[in-house]
Amino acid sequence: MDNNQFTPKEINPLGSLDEWEDDLLERYPDPEKIASAKSTESYRNYEEPARDTVREFYRLNHTHQTYDFVMEKQRQYLSFDKKEMAIWDAFDFLNQLVDDSDPDTDLDQFQHLLQTSEAIRRDGHPDWMVLVGLMHDMGKVLCLFGEPQWAVVGDTFPVGCAYSDKIIYPEFFKENPDYNNPKYNTKYGIYEPNCGLRNVHMSWGHDEYIYQMMKDSIPEGGLYMLRYHSFYAWHREGAYEHLLDDHDREMLQWVKLFNPYDLYSKCPVPPDWKELKPYYTALIEKYLPKTLKF
Ligand SMILES: [Fe+2]
Ligand SMILES: [Fe+2]
Repeated sequence: MDNNQFTPKEINPLGSLDEWEDDLLERYPDPEKIASAKSTESYRNYEEPARDTVREFYRLNHTHQTYDFVMEKQRQYLSFDKKEMAIWDAFDFLNQLVDDSDPDTDLDQFQHLLQTSEAIRRDGHPDWMVLVGLMHDMGKVLCLFGEPQWAVVGDTFPVGCAYSDKIIYPEFFKENPDYNNPKYNTKYGIYEPNCGLRNVHMSWGHDEYIYQMMKDSIPEGGLYMLRYHSFYAWHREGAYEHLLDDHDREMLQWVKLFNPYDLYSKCPVPPDWKELKPYYTALIEKYLPKTLKF
């Protein structure tokens, strides 16, 4: 069911999902690398065609992620009646997303997950955070269920209230029907002041999906990492203060702690999976059920 590969460019403008993450690295370069690099040239290699596909991706994302669209996707996916897989089979399934357009630089999805989790483990963080690293992008299987790129990846943001201008390419929201809907286009929209993010609907994507899958399995800090790891307008730009409650403000530290591992742990040398497997088998057994429902 590899719809993604065969869908026209107009629907899926990115050559691969990695193009979005590569663009994030351009927006939020690794501070350590900047400090140590002789020149920042490596961060300045914007190729215009690549930028254009990312722009087009965000145009589609901002145009089509309406409140109604999010409600529909929640109905469609949060019943978890699509597929049930043992966890290792789920990683194999996710890896069908491997992009073959640039085999030299792109890691498969599982390698990204493992490099993220290993970087977290190396720094001595709690084991549930290591598990977050391993699982955080599992929701990208949405692409394999036929969802377009703009409904799987990209920065996430609240729907049902005014869009922050701290979201990347805010001008594209003018094309979103909610932009002119008085129910949704005020500062608070359908929400109460400082109602807490748990009461806010986020644009649909891989974050919300994996959060819902794991919400009974790991501590709260880890759930915030999963659910908001692409909410850059919040965790990097400080937007949406008016919707936060004290609990969100406390949990923000976890989301911020996780983000560099997601962005900066990519390394061309794959970890030695054979050596690592016993540790991860035990970790998964500790926190997760035998099978995952999608
Ligand atoms: Fe992600
Ligand atoms: Fe990631």
